[in-house]
Amino acid sequence: MCGIIGYIGNRRATPLLMQGLRRLEYRGYDSAGIAVLDGNSLFCERTAGRIDALKEKIGERRPEGTVGIAHTRWATHGIVSEHNAHPHRACNDSLVIVHNGIIENYRELRAELQATHTFTSDTDSEVLAHLIESCHQGNLRHSVACALSKVRGTYGLVVMHADNPDLLVCARMGSPLVIGMGEHEYFVASDATPLLPYTKDVTYLDDGEIAELRRDGVRIYDLREKTVHKDIQRIEWNDEQAQKQGYDHFMLKEIFEQPVVFRDAVRGRKIPEDGTAYLGGLNMTESQMRNVSRVVFVACGTAYHAGMIGKYVFERLAHIPCEVEVASEFRYRDCVLDDRTLVFAISQSGETADTLAAVREARRKGAIVRGIVNVVGSTIARETDGGTYIHAGPELAVASTKAFTNMVAVILLYALQFGRLKHVSLADGQQFLQAHFEIPSKMEQILNMNDEIAAVARRYARYRDFLFLGRGINYPVALEGSLKLKEISYIHSEAYPAGEMKHGVNALLGPDFPVLAIMTKNQLYEKMRSNIEEVRARGSKVILIATEGDTDARQLGDDVLTVPSTIEALEPLLNTIPLQLFAYHAATMLDRDVDRPRNLAKSVTVE
Ligand code: AGP
Repeated sequence: MCGIIGYIGNRRATPLLMQGLRRLEYRGYDSAGIAVLDGNSLFCERTAGRIDALKEKIGERRPEGTVGIAHTRWATHGIVSEHNAHPHRACNDSLVIVHNGIIENYRELRAELQATHTFTSDTDSEVLAHLIESCHQGNLRHSVACALSKVRGTYGLVVMHADNPDLLVCARMGSPLVIGMGEHEYFVASDATPLLPYTKDVTYLDDGEIAELRRDGVRIYDLREKTVHKDIQRIEWNDEQAQKQGYDHFMLKEIFEQPVVFRDAVRGRKIPEDGTAYLGGLNMTESQMRNVSRVVFVACGTAYHAGMIGKYVFERLAHIPCEVEVASEFRYRDCVLDDRTLVFAISQSGETADTLAAVREARRKGAIVRGIVNVVGSTIARETDGGTYIHAGPELAVASTKAFTNMVAVILLYALQFGRLKHVSLADGQQFLQAHFEIPSKMEQILNMNDEIAAVARRYARYRDFLFLGRGINYPVALEGSLKLKEISYIHSEAYPAGEMKHGVNALLGPDFPVLAIMTKNQLYEKMRSNIEEVRARGSKVILIATEGDTDARQLGDDVLTVPSTIEALEPLLNTIPLQLFAYHAATMLDRDVDRPRNLAKSVTVE
């Protein structure tokens, strides 16, 4: 997810664009750039690093132009560097673009273009600049439309050309763009945050729409080049709310982003016709993959729980023995590794000290080491010999939510890719992918239950202790739900495999010890059900996560939160969401600092 802003009007564009980038920095902050047209002369500056680094690089220069575009990057393809920063220019450097999204077919497009075009970056976005140039015959909007007709993927795109100093062209497919309406001045941005000091009157582009912004007005067209009329909406948010897109906390915003970022995690990585997945960053041939004798997931915290889910699905789909290791233990144990052991280091930040140390230890011992990371160009991403970015966008809340489900999404695709080389049939692989495809809409169904989940959470927010129960693939989900609750509400909680209750934990049960249990319809349903009956018999209140349509659950739970059904391997992608929202609403009920909980940091870069 990146931050884009464009301006055309009568003010000096540079200070306005720079201020706008600062308001968009929460969307991405690994590199930044600006391009301003002063008459026909184009001023362009880019840098790795944050907005301050760009400001420093511009220095005392004061471009006078009143039309321009700017971008703050969250890298998805291509390392963090100046040459990968936006704006990107075509060969004729009068044409510049800024882009937010993922161009799925950029490799093919680049292969076609590089015979006649010189590329200067490793990004997918730069392809758009050269593609538009290859279509350009004078009318910029037509050139953009022509180029986008060849593109597969997502874009929020703004284009500027020195030959058209009174025009910005922008287009949207899958990545948001909002247009701000001023007095003879117009704005376009990834969201309303940077527009608020100038206008609260906005309109939102829809997928497939292209807009021309001129000083005398805005014209919007659909893919068939027909003019589209859009209603003007008034934004009532203040600045801080705007950064959170109207949500009270980044955590809630990130919980609600899961359906969208899930699609980003899997985009271009599924091969339905072969019932498999293809994660190119694995950097392994099929014979090398078949030669893997053991998989080790190593991580911390929430990422560790994703690794536990990885163990279940890898063993089931790929029949490869798996272990899951807490990085801070792994790094000091004398782990037995060899060149047939595949170690996956899982990390949202890519900077967690213990996980990084585990990567170095695994490499030292000759294992195959790959990363499953969110932050492009992070240390773990750079020190592993390949891997996969989870494309969750910046996760700013300390409590990890969307990164967790995206880690699981990627791990599931890896398990399928390995499984299809061994025991998974074409039909089973295609069934798996179909179930995977349905996940975002099922996530949205659960998110629509937010108010119901909030009501349940508020009823339990005063308890001092909690127990989360799950079995099989839902045991790691119970652990994740328990971690969410304790880290943001400060309520003590623990999670247990339900079959373990009789071995000690039963002693804790009683009216002051509520239990949240995951009892979805799967192979362990009946086992789980009898565990819950034992819990109820000992006086604990029970909150159930149950499969929609399970009427028996209503008899068993004091409160029941239902989730859509899916295949067992994919259940964590759905069952985790009510637990995230439960923790969130319990914490807000207790007036906790949800995004910045006490004693914690977003990235633990020290031991
Ligand atoms: C989870 O909500 C916490 N923020 C924490 O456990 C986190 O998952 C852990 O520190 C690992 O961070 P990483 O994914 O950036 O490596």
